[in-house]
Amino acid sequence: MLTPKMLQALNDQLQAEYHSSYLYLSMAARCADLNLPGFAHWFRVQVQEENVHALKFFDYILLRRGTVELKGIEKPTGSWPNALAVFEDALKHEQYITRRIHDLVKLAREANDPATEALLQWFVTEQVEEEAMVDGLVQQLKVMGESPSGLFIMDRELAKRQLGAQ
Ligand SMILES: [Fe+2]
Ligand SMILES: [Fe+2]
Repeated sequence: MLTPKMLQALNDQLQAEYHSSYLYLSMAARCADLNLPGFAHWFRVQVQEENVHALKFFDYILLRRGTVELKGIEKPTGSWPNALAVFEDALKHEQYITRRIHDLVKLAREANDPATEALLQWFVTEQVEEEAMVDGLVQQLKVMGESPSGLFIMDRELAKRQLGAQ
């Protein structure tokens, strides 16, 4: 059995993953507005990844015979002048999610719940990869500045992203 505190924290993380999904959907829309279809596609794939994350928590809660509680998803707010601003916010968001996952690990340890800790280890590794990937794109955009040809080439690269592949 999950402790009530652990169950609540897992339900909160399920909500946080859907909030990530919704935030990235708004970033996909902004990139489309900026005439960057490849960037928009990259965020669409990111949306799918976050939905997969959310469902991992959903399935795990049920597996442990806990009650899933679906909460409201906050409206994403953000107005980004350019692609760099979008990716800088995406990086900040991933860093926030990493802190949340680390807090969950601490909670699982305190609850003496190694099964939940094992689930969370997957997320610990995933967050390292996500932060590195987004940070890499931030750095690339910084190097390019506002070069239109650089953005064009990067847009074509990002258009190739597939679910499950970096
Ligand atoms: Fe996630
Ligand atoms: Fe993420």
